[in-house]
Amino acid sequence: MNTLGSLVVDDLRVSADVELVHGVSLTVAPGEAVGIVGESGSGKSLTLRAVMGLLPRGVHRSGGRVQVDGTAAMIFQDPLSFLDPLARVGRQVAEVCAAAGRTSPRAARVRALELLESVRLPDAADLARRYPHQLSGGQRQRVLLALALAQEPDLLLCDEPTTALDVTVQREVLDLLAQLRAERRLSILFVSHDLAVVTQVCERVVVLRGGRVVETGAALDVVTSPASDYTRSLVDAVLPLPVPAGGGDD
Ligand SMILES: Nc1ncnc2c1ncn2[C@@H]1O[C@H](COP(=O)(O)OP(=O)(O)OP(=O)(O)O)[C@@H](O)[C@H]1O
Ligand SMILES: [Mg+2]
Repeated sequence: MNTLGSLVVDDLRVSADVELVHGVSLTVAPGEAVGIVGESGSGKSLTLRAVMGLLPRGVHRSGGRVQVDGTAAMIFQDPLSFLDPLARVGRQVAEVCAAAGRTSPRAARVRALELLESVRLPDAADLARRYPHQLSGGQRQRVLLALALAQEPDLLLCDEPTTALDVTVQREVLDLLAQLRAERRLSILFVSHDLAVVTQVCERVVVLRGGRVVETGAALDVVTSPASDYTRSLVDAVLPLPVPAGGGDD
């Protein structure tokens, strides 16, 4: 069986001076999209960064197991902090292509343009010559997506990728993510404090609180019948949700 893109996190512990993530377990099946939700400080980013092996300085994995089948790439929340302000975005994407594919510089430039087009950036050739500060927030987030795709990932880790965007642009980026996922058979682990955003992208949701999993289930079940007051408060925070046809008469 093809297990590319699957992820197993088992009893993950992350610590600085004290333990911050206290034994988180979750799985992502090949091609599945799983969301991690929870209030600020609940351990979402540390869990994602521990999966990627990119924890902040002074923080380390102190227990548990992380097993990724295939290549993982991560999209961080703040594109400006991740992009090199002094390099044209086309070149930044080409460099990642060259490193991932061990191709010639020319082939990498061609590939970079293809990727910028694949994230639905109009006038990709013109845009490739710009510097990050010359792009809109939504365009930058698409460039980050292109950078992640340049690594040919089987699993895409997203940390609040649309939080800084206005609602319309957020919707476009989420739609794009769904399209790319279908085209490339990507598995996705998607972090957001916003349960409404998570349910747009993910079939399954893991709810974190204080570095622990408090609930996990199908996204629709978690939203419609949360098992804890904590999850209910996350649901209430994003009301009103669209009511599915034929339901919601209670
Ligand atoms: N570099 C660090 N050193 C020490 N403690 C940290 C560090 N980074 C995060 N923490 C602590 O670990 C806990 C989890 O942080 P994390 O960044 O994972 O939260 P989060 O769920 O992503 O929150 P947010 O929604 O605000 O991004 C918090 O209590 C935070 O203060
Ligand atoms: Mg975070």
